[in-house]
Amino acid sequence: IMETKVRKRNLDSTSSATVTDDKQNVVKLKQEVGVLGGISLVVGTMIGSGIFMSPASILIHAHSVGASLCIWAACGVLATFGAMSYIELGLMIKKSGGEYQYLKAAYGEVAAFLFAWTSIIVTKPSSFAIIAIGFAQYVTAPFYPGCTPPATIQKCAAAFCILIISLINCFSVKLSNFVQIFFTAAKLLIIASIIIGGFVMLGQGHTENLTNGFEGSAKSFSAIAVAFYSGLWSYDGWNQLNFVTEELQNPVRNFPLTIMIGIPMVTVLYILVNIAYFTVMTPSEIISSSAVAITFGDRVFGPASFIVPVAVACSTFGAANGSAFTAGRLTYAAGRNGHMLKLFSYISVTKLTPSPALIFNSFIALLMIIPDASNFSTLIDYFTFASWIFYGATFLSVIVLRFRKPEWKRPYRVFIAIPAICFITSCYLIVAPIIDSPQLAYLYAAIFIIAGLVFYFPLIYFKKVPPFMEPLTSFLQQVLEVVPPPDMED
Ligand code: ARG
Repeated sequence: IMETKVRKRNLDSTSSATVTDDKQNVVKLKQEVGVLGGISLVVGTMIGSGIFMSPASILIHAHSVGASLCIWAACGVLATFGAMSYIELGLMIKKSGGEYQYLKAAYGEVAAFLFAWTSIIVTKPSSFAIIAIGFAQYVTAPFYPGCTPPATIQKCAAAFCILIISLINCFSVKLSNFVQIFFTAAKLLIIASIIIGGFVMLGQGHTENLTNGFEGSAKSFSAIAVAFYSGLWSYDGWNQLNFVTEELQNPVRNFPLTIMIGIPMVTVLYILVNIAYFTVMTPSEIISSSAVAITFGDRVFGPASFIVPVAVACSTFGAANGSAFTAGRLTYAAGRNGHMLKLFSYISVTKLTPSPALIFNSFIALLMIIPDASNFSTLIDYFTFASWIFYGATFLSVIVLRFRKPEWKRPYRVFIAIPAICFITSCYLIVAPIIDSPQLAYLYAAIFIIAGLVFYFPLIYFKKVPPFMEPLTSFLQQVLEVVPPPDMED
């Protein structure tokens, strides 16, 4: 009975593409995400921690207000171009799992495996950790006015965020959806208040920081790439729609429409928020503040400034919740394909949530916040470096597939220069920071990605599974009370 229950409801928890109804017929997933739903998914994922955390690090590398604003705009253009390239892929290869499926189609199993390996162990957990650190910085700041809160306190707050989110997601899909919607509203509210507050100040003539905006801008081509890292973090999530293509109503029309409304909208909001920050704070104040929006709130909202940390905490909490939730989707696709421990795609019998994937994701995220060197920007370096290697490979796959699979149906054909520009930009983003400021972080990330091959060949290609795996899996299966999803291939 449990098996059937899981079959019926696994749609909610693992987001697989098909489910079986009571009569055991396979029913297609309902196409119920419209344009509005799509836009809120994209906007809700993109706006998280970055806009409240990154302005300082972009300014540090760009050296001027004008150059900072240009970087914010350029990141928006790059995200839009990237998403346009992804529309072609998403409408051509309609399977859950995003990049995993595209890389598999263009380059084969090994590339897809390395992607799954890197996302499950590096990028997904690190994005969870980064957002949790953003959360921690904002919830602790009000208790330490005028100084930076102690690192231990911040780390504890970040750990608290990770644990609560995992609990919510392991406990109930409904609760997690509620958290998502509620907190998306909170973040739009705070973004709107910051913009309005800033523009009122601007109207009162506070334009000092905006005049001569380009004085002293960074000239180094590679330093700018480092500034891009922080900017691109704020825009990350632009590919979110590719995870739900199958659920979109009338995808051929709505996919491009959603992208072309959603991402430019975020870009405009981000630029306006930055103008508001610059109106109220001098560049050096922005750089020295560990939580810009709090300083902003103290100056503009007066007695109502307590709302800022609360709203930012909600925004980051919501983003972390969304990230944790979608982590299950990819793990599921990879596990089903035999590219990951099968256990990671199992579903809780009682709660119908992908608890093993969630627990693993949170565990690695917790490990990532422990080291002294882990802070918002170092983790972003790891994250962006590793993600853009695969984004770059995916942009190239648009071009590769045009040649290798010319016969595949492409309801949307992106102008070929767009993925080409995105690919070249990704190469620049990967190489320039290494030249500008060689850091061990990049080396570790690169070694780690390649190290995946050590596991790929014996475990997956030659299928030499160590003898302890089977008893271990069934032990964990009993402890966690999880079962394989219905359409798992053996
Ligand atoms: N852009 C978001 C932020 O500024 C982070 C998105 C993380 N990525 C994701 N696919 N969930 O916090």
